[in-house]
Amino acid sequence: MRLAGKSAIVTGGASGFGKGIVEKFLDEGARVLIADINGTAAEELAAAKGEAAVAQQVDVAEASSVEAMAEAAIQAFGQVDLLVNNAGVTHLPSPLDEVSEEDFDRVFNVNMKSVYLTARALVPHMKTRQSGVILNVASTAGVSPRPNLNWYNASKGWMITATKTMAVELAPKGIRVNAINPVAGETPLLKSFMGEDTPEIRAKFLSTIPIGRFSTPEDMGNAACFLCSDEASMITGVAMEVDGGRCI
Ligand SMILES: NC(=O)c1ccc[n+]([C@@H]2O[C@H](COP(=O)([O-])OP(=O)(O)OC[C@H]3O[C@@H](n4cnc5c(N)ncnc54)[C@H](O)[C@@H]3O)[C@@H](O)[C@H]2O)c1
Repeated sequence: MRLAGKSAIVTGGASGFGKGIVEKFLDEGARVLIADINGTAAEELAAAKGEAAVAQQVDVAEASSVEAMAEAAIQAFGQVDLLVNNAGVTHLPSPLDEVSEEDFDRVFNVNMKSVYLTARALVPHMKTRQSGVILNVASTAGVSPRPNLNWYNASKGWMITATKTMAVELAPKGIRVNAINPVAGETPLLKSFMGEDTPEIRAKFLSTIPIGRFSTPEDMGNAACFLCSDEASMITGVAMEVDGGRCI
């Protein structure tokens, strides 16, 4: 019960890493708003988890939708202690000069603008309470980029810098801001990074992970729980690799 009494928002919480974070937070005693563009999946997950979970359909790239999400969480829980910016998308592997403007804008808005929009909606609430934790789900792609995912990689590098600058500015207000950098993980998004899901491409990705396996939603739930709990009360501004050694 390391998150007992805490209330959280997890964006992209209906699938993959976000779902792993939602489940861990609930297991550790938090109440969680599962915020996802796939409202049906969010509702199904919340229904399966009982009273501590609430679903909210949101597009993290849209200001009015993010504001409604913040209001829904405050209405449901009275406060927001933990915000996990997990929703993210990628363009398919492609030479950087061949990615369409439409795909670039989608990656830019969902992976980057969302961090600004959720901060604008929730940092004032956290400042008033002199308390809060923000966790950004970035990527090893922002530290050690692979070719052909250029604009996705750059969005995650931006997220890591945003984490550090938010941390230094918000520390005096009692708000901690950290990131996790997952390595390739067993989620529906993995196929989009690989382009194609074949044994050969899987082996190529795996060969770069010293621990020898893909990451899992449970790995991200465990890391997120630690960084969002009071056990990490002296930790802010880190972008922690959860990557089986890939970035060494
Ligand atoms: N899977 C990996 O290999 C990997 C590696 C490193 C980092 N990441 C990052 O982890 C995060 C989660 O990815 P995942 O692999 O679990 O993907 P996923 O596709 O399984 O889950 C992403 C969730 O976000 C939701 N979502 C997408 N756009 C949204 C929007 N505009 N508003 C609200 N919700 C939206 C989707 O509906 C989905 O439920 C992403 O930020 C991703 O970049 C993933």
